[in-house]
Amino acid sequence: MLEIINLKTQFPSPDGLVNAVDSADLQIEDNERLGLIGETGCGKTVLGMSIIRLLPPSTRIHGQIIYKGRDLLNLKEEEMRLLRGKEISMILQNPTTSLNPVLKIGDQIAEVIQLHKDCNRKEAKTKAVEILAAAMIPEAPKRADQYPHELSGGMKERVMIVMGLASQPSFVIADEPTKGLDSGTKAEIIRLIRDMTSGRSMLMITHDLAAAGEICDRIAVMYAGELLEMASAKTILHDPQHPYTQGFINSLPSRGLLPISGSSPSLIDPPHGCRFHPRCPWAMDICRREHPQIIKLEKGHFSRCFLCA
Ligand SMILES: Nc1ncnc2c1ncn2[C@@H]1O[C@H](COP(=O)(O)OP(=O)(O)OP(=O)(O)O)[C@@H](O)[C@H]1O
Ligand SMILES: [Mg+2]
Repeated sequence: MLEIINLKTQFPSPDGLVNAVDSADLQIEDNERLGLIGETGCGKTVLGMSIIRLLPPSTRIHGQIIYKGRDLLNLKEEEMRLLRGKEISMILQNPTTSLNPVLKIGDQIAEVIQLHKDCNRKEAKTKAVEILAAAMIPEAPKRADQYPHELSGGMKERVMIVMGLASQPSFVIADEPTKGLDSGTKAEIIRLIRDMTSGRSMLMITHDLAAAGEICDRIAVMYAGELLEMASAKTILHDPQHPYTQGFINSLPSRGLLPISGSSPSLIDPPHGCRFHPRCPWAMDICRREHPQIIKLEKGHFSRCFLCA
């Protein structure tokens, strides 16, 4: 469905080039949901935005993003616009800024439907209410008639998910869909995403490893712009091999809240050798000298670590 080959996404800045995504290779199969996790600022959103090509014009992007046989990075903006929303859609990180405050919910969803379906306004609005109801939003007709500020955070998040899926895209990018939600709402949102994306391919960007474990088939771990480990969700949660992934898991509240010491490195001038070595409890000489390649440990399990070699 989607194959990312040697993707580099860089932003020029007064201090030098910010290497937000560095040589990423990733495949997402038909009907596969892949989680992308990692600390704040490691490049997750930029990777998602690179796929859908919503980045500032000064951004430098290299590599290939093959979607259904075509390289998205070579498409003209008009061609990309036809795919965006319809075939590939993105559920954005912040519903408060992504929903239009002066348009009723039903009208916003109807707009998405009309962009991609041949129907009139009235049909699109009826369809919008149907989709809201299907997303288990109580009193869907009333909700459709409300403005974003009239909805709770959890309800807004649901509306964002509904909007992201209203055009029946085959590939969905969801950026932090469970961020800032209380645990009850989070559980509902997880269920909603799981139900509504079944039979589609999805890249789910999240800090929430538990949510990724419930929704995703596989998980990729990102650190300082690079992919460090990739495996089935079960393996990442229960048998991670990279020290960073192990640290990330131990820092979860459910696993004892043990933080990884040190802080995320600069993306302009990342550490020599393994980017994680300054914070790694197992760092060896070679880790300071050489940059590890990502290697296959067993079927479907990859890690970028000399300890795993
Ligand atoms: N338009 C831009 N210009 C310059 N730098 C940028 C731009 N967008 C993102 N960055 C930088 O790229 C890096 C990766 O950012 P990104 O938003 O992808 O992180 P993230 O992993 O999504 O973090 P979070 O978990 O906090 O959302 C950061 O250092 C960020 O400052
Ligand atoms: Mg982000």
